[in-house]
Amino acid sequence: MTKTDISAADIDTANTDRAADINRAAATTVDPGLSTGEFPDYMLKEIYEQPRVLQDILTGRYDAARQRLVFDEITLTADEIRSLRHICIIACGTSFHAGLIAKDFVERLTDLTVDVQIASEFLFNQRKHRENAMVIAISQSGMTSDTLDAVQMARANGAYVVAITNVMDSTITTLANASLYIQADIEIAVPATKSYTAQLAILTLLALYLGQERGTQRPTEVALFYAELLDSVDKIVRILASQSLAKIEQAAAACAQAENILLLGRGTGTATCKEAALKVKETSYRHAEAFSVLEFVHGPIALIDPGVATPVVALLPADSLDDATRDVLFKAKAYGAKLIVFTEESEQRLVGQVDYQIFLPKATPIQMPFVAIVALQLFARHIACILGCDIDNPRYLSKVVVSH
Ligand code: G6P
Repeated sequence: MTKTDISAADIDTANTDRAADINRAAATTVDPGLSTGEFPDYMLKEIYEQPRVLQDILTGRYDAARQRLVFDEITLTADEIRSLRHICIIACGTSFHAGLIAKDFVERLTDLTVDVQIASEFLFNQRKHRENAMVIAISQSGMTSDTLDAVQMARANGAYVVAITNVMDSTITTLANASLYIQADIEIAVPATKSYTAQLAILTLLALYLGQERGTQRPTEVALFYAELLDSVDKIVRILASQSLAKIEQAAAACAQAENILLLGRGTGTATCKEAALKVKETSYRHAEAFSVLEFVHGPIALIDPGVATPVVALLPADSLDDATRDVLFKAKAYGAKLIVFTEESEQRLVGQVDYQIFLPKATPIQMPFVAIVALQLFARHIACILGCDIDNPRYLSKVVVSH
């Protein structure tokens, strides 16, 4: 596999860049030329920018005449891509949650298996070297020190590193073998929103590209899948203009005084709920935790406090709503939980049995992570609004963590 070895000089240069990053991050102020426009805060503005950002990413990568995706930044030959044996995704915070969803996409579209690791934990990974490994490092800022340390380690161990970032020429791009930009423009609110869905989009395209190059996806399948992805943009537009918005706000109001909010999902829905729980914690300072729905009965269900009707927020598209899942929901209800369930719009099986049912547009398994998180971002933000929190600048948090 052709790799440009990382030298001591490269690492020195990167470390000098990192010192510059720290200064840049410390000096980061909002450009006075930017404004929230018609929106009360940047977080809401950035939530509404998502359809445009996704459209831009998706339209740049597909050669319709040849029914092929194009990733010129990736310098591996088709043979080298076919000889990949392992993929590891590393990231922190919201970017880590994008990685959890990407694992599903890569495993769905290729014959590869994927590990997803929190970047700071990757450094403790005992299995240092794997033959023919690709490491995908995700960082909105390209400056998060834990992720940069992990990238350096991955390169030193011989992996081919693909960086996914929003910031041109950020340090991660100097360390990686290839860099893919998510083109989300500057994201100002500390709680990440548009950068997350943009990361999902590029990761989905990358998964499809790997499938194309490894021969697990034929050109017609690439074309269909690409159309499916484009269609998710319309579904996000529908949420942002839908009657569900009022319902989302009512449900958020019903959770605002709760100290503890429990979220349940299945498959990629669990990862989406983890990202939603992070949004609640960051914006509202409320404890929120996500679980896989069937795992909930193995301990976490004891967290339901009937005295305060602990909110249980479940993300259940049609393919997640089987009898076993319904049993868990109704058990939670019987123990005193307040049930808030996000389902697809035609879903009738829960009508009248939960406290709030919020309808999302019908979506395929590939589209649902894009569609559902937008509704959940709005849900989290509204809780913070009710509590009067500083939405764009939550306490103790910063957009970039460049040192500990
Ligand atoms: C900080 C931010 C999070 C972000 C994480 C990773 O903790 O507060 O919102 O997800 O860093 O940032 P990155 O720029 O590497 O994606």
